[in-house]
Amino acid sequence: MRLPFRLRPLLSWFDPAMVVVDIGANHGYLAKTLTTMTSSPVYATEYSNPSFAHLLHELEGERVLAYQADGLQNLPTEVNTAIITGMGGRLILSMLAIDPFPSHLETLWLGPQSHVDELRLYLSNHGWKIIKETIVADAGQFYPFLFVVKGDEPLSNVQAYLGPRLMEKKESSSLAWMKQESMRLATSSQTVSLPEEEQHRLEWLQAYVKH
Ligand SMILES: C[S@@+](CC[C@H](N)C(=O)[O-])C[C@H]1O[C@@H](n2cnc3c(N)ncnc32)[C@H](O)[C@@H]1O
Repeated sequence: MRLPFRLRPLLSWFDPAMVVVDIGANHGYLAKTLTTMTSSPVYATEYSNPSFAHLLHELEGERVLAYQADGLQNLPTEVNTAIITGMGGRLILSMLAIDPFPSHLETLWLGPQSHVDELRLYLSNHGWKIIKETIVADAGQFYPFLFVVKGDEPLSNVQAYLGPRLMEKKESSSLAWMKQESMRLATSSQTVSLPEEEQHRLEWLQAYVKH
């Protein structure tokens, strides 16, 4: 079992009251690891036929319950925590927009690999509150993860971009991401005029990193 380094910090978010599903589990490593931390069922999904066949193969002999579904469809009613990582923020957002939303789902662990600000704004506009965030630095890439529960917290555009909990915590990996982004945008701004949104981002990053 080889749980990818970037997913390891998520294990500290686990609480035995959680009944989890890993949506788009691929190799199933996270679900397999979670079975060692709970006696509750642990579910894992894949959508396409080949991906589901691969997941079933990976889960042979494991206690993980696999099913084939698109996003949050067909969610077992005992599941209260959905893990959706390793996908673009817009794909995650489209999964969360399922109607009706499964009311038994209370907690989300999200690992968007793009459009994180859009996802944070969607969450804050749809009755979700980000209570924990981290950024994992792995092999030169930065991977944000959000721990989300039902609640209200309107977010400004700056918070949506920098992450409300990351802004409070100032962990070294999130500061490293902010410095890298700030440098990237500053370098581009020397050769081309940045679009307005990117110019705002650069100002937010520079103000925060200096602070
Ligand atoms: C890059 S992998 C990430 C795997 C794992 N979650 C991780 O973080 O390492 C993305 C996975 O999402 C799956 N996927 C994409 N769209 C999906 C959907 N609509 N429903 C379920 N899974 C989906 C893909 O088949 C793929 O296995």
